[in-house]
Amino acid sequence: MKKGYFITFEGAEGSGKSTQIRNAVAFLEKKGRSVVMLREPGGTRISEAIRAILLDKNLKEMTHVTELLLYLAARAQIVREKILPALKKGKVVICDRFEDSTRAYQGFGRRIPLSSIEQVNCLVRDSLRPDLTFVLDIDIAKGLARGGRHDRIEREALSFHERVRHGFLSLAKKEPKRMVVLDTSKSAESVSQKVRERLERVFGQ
Ligand SMILES: Nc1ncnc2c1ncn2[C@@H]1O[C@H](COP(=O)(O)OP(=O)(O)O)[C@@H](O)[C@H]1O
Ligand SMILES: [Mg+2]
Repeated sequence: MKKGYFITFEGAEGSGKSTQIRNAVAFLEKKGRSVVMLREPGGTRISEAIRAILLDKNLKEMTHVTELLLYLAARAQIVREKILPALKKGKVVICDRFEDSTRAYQGFGRRIPLSSIEQVNCLVRDSLRPDLTFVLDIDIAKGLARGGRHDRIEREALSFHERVRHGFLSLAKKEPKRMVVLDTSKSAESVSQKVRERLERVFGQ
C-alpha cells in the first residue's frame, strides 16, 4: 500500500522544471516532509545507462518505437527500484518528467497512437499514478533559447516541439484534477508561488 505522495513536473526543456523542483523540495522539506527527488529517464544505474543511449545525438537511426520502448524500460526500472519503495515509506517523491512526457513526445510528437503507448504503459507503471502533475507551459522558441538544443530530442524540428506542447496541454485538459498548467512566461518566482499555493492545499499550512 502506498502511503506517500507522488508529484511530477512536466514540460519542454527550458520550461523551468529543475528550477521549480528545487523550490518545491525546499518548501516541502521546510514543512518537515521527507522528499525524494528523481529525474526521468534516469535515477537508477540501469535507467541512466538507457538515458545515455536516448540522448546520444549520434544515434540518428533510432526508430520511434525503439525510442518509446527505451523510455518505458528506463521507467520500469525506476518505478520498482526507487519510486514505489519511497512511497511505501511515506515519502514525497518528486519526479522531473514521467509518463505524460511519453504521451506528449512519443504520442503527440512522434505520432505513435496513444492507445498503443497505454498498453505497454500499464505494464511499466503497475498501479502507480502521479497524485499531482505540474505542466510548465512555455513558448517553444523561448524554451529552446533558455535550455539550449543539444541532445537528440532537443534537435528535433520546431513543428515537433509544437506538437509536444499541444500534447501536454490537451492531456491536461482531459485530467484537470491531476494536471495543473502553469504559464512560465512569468518570472520563476511567480511560478514558484503558484506551485506553493497548490502544495499548501495538499500538505496544509
Ligand atoms: N519562469 C522563468 N522565467 C525566466 N527564466 C526562467 C524561468 N524558469 C527558469 N528559468 C531559467 O531558464 C533556464 C532553464 O530552466 P530549468 O529549470 O533548467 O528548465 P528545465 O529543467 O525545464 O530544462 C535556467 O537558466 C533558469 O534559471
Ligand atoms: Mg532540467
